[in-house]
Amino acid sequence: MTHRIAVIAGDGIGQEVMPEGLRALEAAANRFKLDLAFTHFDFGNCDYYLAHGKMLPEDWFEQLKDFDAIFFGAVGWPEKVPDHISLWGSLLQFRRRFDQYINLRPCRLMAGVKSPLANRKPGDVDFYVVRENTEGEYSSVGGKMYEGTEREIVIQETVMSRFGIDRVLKYAFELAQKRPRRKLTSATKSNGIAITMPYWDERVDAMAKNYPDVSTDKYHIDILTANFVLHPDWFDVVVGSNLFGDILSDLGPACTGTIGIAPSANINPEGTFPSLFEPVHGSAPDIAGKGVANPIGQIWSGAMMLEHFGYKAAADHMVNAIEAVLAQANPLVITRDLGGQGTTLTLSDAIVSAICR
Ligand code: NAD
Ligand code: IPM
Ligand code: MN
Repeated sequence: MTHRIAVIAGDGIGQEVMPEGLRALEAAANRFKLDLAFTHFDFGNCDYYLAHGKMLPEDWFEQLKDFDAIFFGAVGWPEKVPDHISLWGSLLQFRRRFDQYINLRPCRLMAGVKSPLANRKPGDVDFYVVRENTEGEYSSVGGKMYEGTEREIVIQETVMSRFGIDRVLKYAFELAQKRPRRKLTSATKSNGIAITMPYWDERVDAMAKNYPDVSTDKYHIDILTANFVLHPDWFDVVVGSNLFGDILSDLGPACTGTIGIAPSANINPEGTFPSLFEPVHGSAPDIAGKGVANPIGQIWSGAMMLEHFGYKAAADHMVNAIEAVLAQANPLVITRDLGGQGTTLTLSDAIVSAICR
């Protein structure tokens, strides 16, 4: 069976890590006899915007909707295009229009990688962030009033629906059921945000009744971020609203050494639309063009895509290859964010060889 994959590299280091993600996928496909067909699109980047005045062509939805998945790099180049325009014009459109309401982001401290947290070893940080990905704080409801006056006001609403909350909670509880510790933590802020967040808590309590085998707790987002640093071993599956999930899914990977290795899956579980696989990190303008970006986030996202297609053995093999290379911690191979002097290519070469072995 052929899996058709749309490839959108985006901006900055997205352009540098994407070829390595593809190389790793091709190596895995070759080894496991998988049929992956890649189609490259050159829209969804800031140069496209400068040339066309928009991030995507009018018919982007038609062009992409029948693919089995989208393999995505990173978008954004604030010096060329304001971030809210480039991101709302591309990635956030994909998430919404393709109803990718789950953003699944694993955080795992791997052997050979130094955590910035003292005395933490592999196994101490091993959890998933499940982020609501289509509503919540990321709404376009609101506006500006009295513009240009001293009374200028901006309003942006948080939109939470029972349907939207319940479906992400269901996914998170089911994931927790499959994990050895069967534990779910909910990120809230119902002490301060007194309408939407108590509602979120209410839905968590209601959903928890359907999963008596999962132990559930909740923390306000402020102390939860502190506990990620102080007690990362407490967490197994952490579910949060769009914004809280966003914040936790940079903090979690930072606790595992670098956000450069963190992958994500933007999933439409029903399969009505393509799901999208991308690293957690952005286009990193500060290191773009230097060839030093860590390619692991992109490669691991490729592994998540294979798992989504049902190729668990191939996906595990790719992650094992990443782990084997990291465990060696060869300073000439690993990139700067991991404490080495290697490049995108040295690290990617090592992982691709490990996949082929
Ligand atoms: P960023 O993730 O791009 O970079 C944050 C820091 O982490 C930088 O110092 C960067 O050098 C480092 N970093 C990131 N990825 C790395 C990698 N693979 N290897 C080594 N170091 C890495 O976040 P930012 O600086 O807040 O955003 C830059 C641009 O990217 C903005 O336009 C932002 O909107 C966009 N962005 C896009 C996405 C996405 O497309 N999914 C995600 C986050 C940010
Ligand atoms: C992410 C990013 C995006 C988000 C930005 C670039 C809009 O930070 O994928 O985590 O906030 O979702
Ligand atoms: Mn983010």
